Formats: sequence, structure tokens, C-alpha cells
Amino acid sequence: MRLLVTGGCGFIGSAFLRKALASTEVERLVNLDALTYSGRRENVAELESDRRFRQVEGDIADAAIVERLFEEEQLTAVVNFAAESHVDRSLFAARRFVRTNIDGALCLLEGARGHQERTGREVRFVHISTDEIYGDLEGGDDVFREDTPVAPRNPYSATKAGGDLLALAFGRTHGVPVIVTRSSNNYGPRQYPEKLIPLMITNALQDQPLPVYGDGRNVRDWLWMDDNCDGIWAALERGEPGEVYNLGGASERENIDVIRGILSALNKPETLIQYVDDRPGHDRRYAIDFSKAQRELGFSPKTKFEDGLAKTVAWYQEHESWWRPLRDASFQDYYRKHYGKLGLQT
Ligand code: NAD
Ligand code: TYD
Repeated sequence: MRLLVTGGCGFIGSAFLRKALASTEVERLVNLDALTYSGRRENVAELESDRRFRQVEGDIADAAIVERLFEEEQLTAVVNFAAESHVDRSLFAARRFVRTNIDGALCLLEGARGHQERTGREVRFVHISTDEIYGDLEGGDDVFREDTPVAPRNPYSATKAGGDLLALAFGRTHGVPVIVTRSSNNYGPRQYPEKLIPLMITNALQDQPLPVYGDGRNVRDWLWMDDNCDGIWAALERGEPGEVYNLGGASERENIDVIRGILSALNKPETLIQYVDDRPGHDRRYAIDFSKAQRELGFSPKTKFEDGLAKTVAWYQEHESWWRPLRDASFQDYYRKHYGKLGLQT
């Protein structure tokens, strides 16, 4: 396999790169990453000595770079992780979400299609989507299935839905063997400290308030990032072109319980919890039926949430040199500027 991974300097992409390099099936591994605020070169530092690995700094929406990589590397597969990935940021600046999550996905799909047409060889294309494109489950026992209508409710999930549907359309109209995975919320080491779990851990480590949106009773299903990567790898190897696979963690938790778990693991007081205004358009509950991936890909989430959370907390405690520079003045400015609107006093 001659594999292009995009967004491999980010949280999940870097975990996937480590997994891919451990496979003898991979003859060449190219990581195309624009190194935005959430892309960290240090996340792939340990891989750079492997002769099969090539790091390329560039934008997935840049057709010239994409076409050049297909030519130079004679790629046979793509896994597209690159994205603007944070809902809160999409509330303040949605345009870059359109550029990466829609235009960027289109550019990669065009690249794969063009290469197939020039060489007559198929390019297997796994597009990383999200369960957030299904929208909101208000309550009750409903779950997202692969045939649940797509109904995104915030700019992030709307742009992810655009990329996801374009990818499926390219399979149908242009014969690119596209497979889409839609996973629930991931957690684990190296997640940028703006998402719920790493934000709360790093705030608690600094004795700063933990901003809980609304009543804290929103529910997310938590998936350990390496379990997600196992599912993505199985989709790459065995997924049926044109198909969508939901990947979930079987670990639905209310936000407030996740936060209490973090405080307890760090032995910090619950007085750090600060309820703030709700996120606009805040989805209440996500829950996912991943039985298709279990049946067809042999996927199963192996990591128990409480074990994964303990490992995550320990990682941030031991890797202050990784997260401390990310919580610098520009991060604080960002929070002051935008989160004022959400009611968080900084
Ligand atoms: P992340 O923000 O940690 O990483 C994103 C990576 O993409 C970064 O390395 C960034 O530099 C790179 N990137 C951004 N724009 C780019 C561009 N135009 N060209 C090239 N590279 C670019 O995100 P993550 O949490 O690792 O998420 C990875 C993928 O998984 C995303 O597609 C996301 O939508 C999806 N996903 C994430 C979660 C989650 O809980 N984190 C859940 C479901 C799906
Ligand atoms: P997040 O990590 O942003 O993921 P997503 O919105 O994509 O699910 O948020 C997870 C949940 O945590 C979501 O219900 C919003 C909530 N949340 C807070 O209560 N406070 C925060 O500071 C953040 C970042 C999230």
C-alpha cells in the first residue's frame, strides 16, 4: 500500500500514522498537513526516522500539491483526516471550515479520480466523517444508524456533512472506491486542549475554572482514539466501497459526569466547576449504533471509558511540555475574545 494520510499531525491522524507504520503492508506513508493551530509536528517526531515515512507541509485544498503527490508517490490509498475540527471555532469563523472540510475534501477526491483515470489503477479512499452530521438526539432511546437522515445543526457539522456527501457522490459518479467512517467523540493523549476532556484536564491542573456549557447534562459517546483507528484501518482494508460505517465507544456519558471524573482523578475540588451560558445550537445527545461495523469490519471498542480517561489524565500530567506552550497568550486571547460571548468570565 502507498498511502496518503492527511491531517496526520493532529490528534487522531497522528495515532493512525503510528498504527499504519506498524503494518508491513505499508510500503510508503505520506502525511500531508497544513500545520494549523491544532497540527503539531511533535506528534509525528518519532515517525520521521522511518524511511517509508514522508512529511509534507501543505493544504489539502491546494490542487497542485495534491496532484504532485499522486504523481510522485504513485499513491494507492488515501485516508482523509484533515479538518477544522472544533465546533466552538466554527461558531466564530466558519469560512475556513468550508475551505478545508468541503473544498479540501473535494480537492483530494478530484486528485484520486484524476490519478485513477491517468493510471487505470484504483485509489481506495477512506473519508473520516463524524456522527455529528446526523444532528441531535433530543432524548429517549434513539440512536444514529448509517441510514439516519443527515441533519447537521452547527457550521462544523454542516461542513463535515458536505465533505462526507461529496465523498459518497464521488464513489457513485466517478468510480472512486470511497468508504466513509462516522465516529463518535474521540478522547486520548495529544488532543488539542480546547476540546472538552483536555480543556478540563489542563484547566484543573492549573486550578482554573472548568467552564460547563448549559446544565452540563448533554450526552456524548466517548471512543478511545486507538479504537477508532482500528476501525478506520479495518475500513481501509475490508470496507465495501460506497458504504458508511458508524464507529462508537459504547460509552455514553453526561458532560458533568466526565468532568467530575477528571476532578476526582486529579484530586481537585468540584468548586472549580463553573456553569456558563450554553453553546448556541448545542446538540443535546449523540448515541451511535455501530453494529454494522461490528458485523462487517470486526470492529469493537476495546477501551473502557474509565480506564481510557485515567490514561488520558495521566498522559497530560506527564506531558506538560506538550500542552503548556499551547495554553499561551494567543490561546488566552482567543478565549477572552470569543468565550466572553458564551458567558465565560476569564
Ligand atoms: P485535529 O484538529 O486534532 O487535527 C486536524 C489536523 O488537520 C491538524 O493536524 C491540522 O493541521 C490539519 N489540517 C487542518 N486543515 C488542513 C488543511 N487545509 N490541509 C491540511 N491539513 C489540515 O482533529 P482530530 O480531532 O484529530 O480530528 C481528525 C478528523 O476526525 C477530523 O476530520 C474530524 O472531523 C474527525 N472526527 C473527530 C472527532 C473527535 O472527537 N476529535 C470525532 C469524530 C470525527
Ligand atoms: P467538544 O469537545 O467541543 O466536542 P463536540 O461539541 O464536538 O461534541 O464538546 C463536548 C461536549 O462538552 C459538548 O456537549 C460541549 C461541552 N463542552 C463544555 O461544556 N465546555 C467546554 O468548555 C467545551 C469545550 C465543551
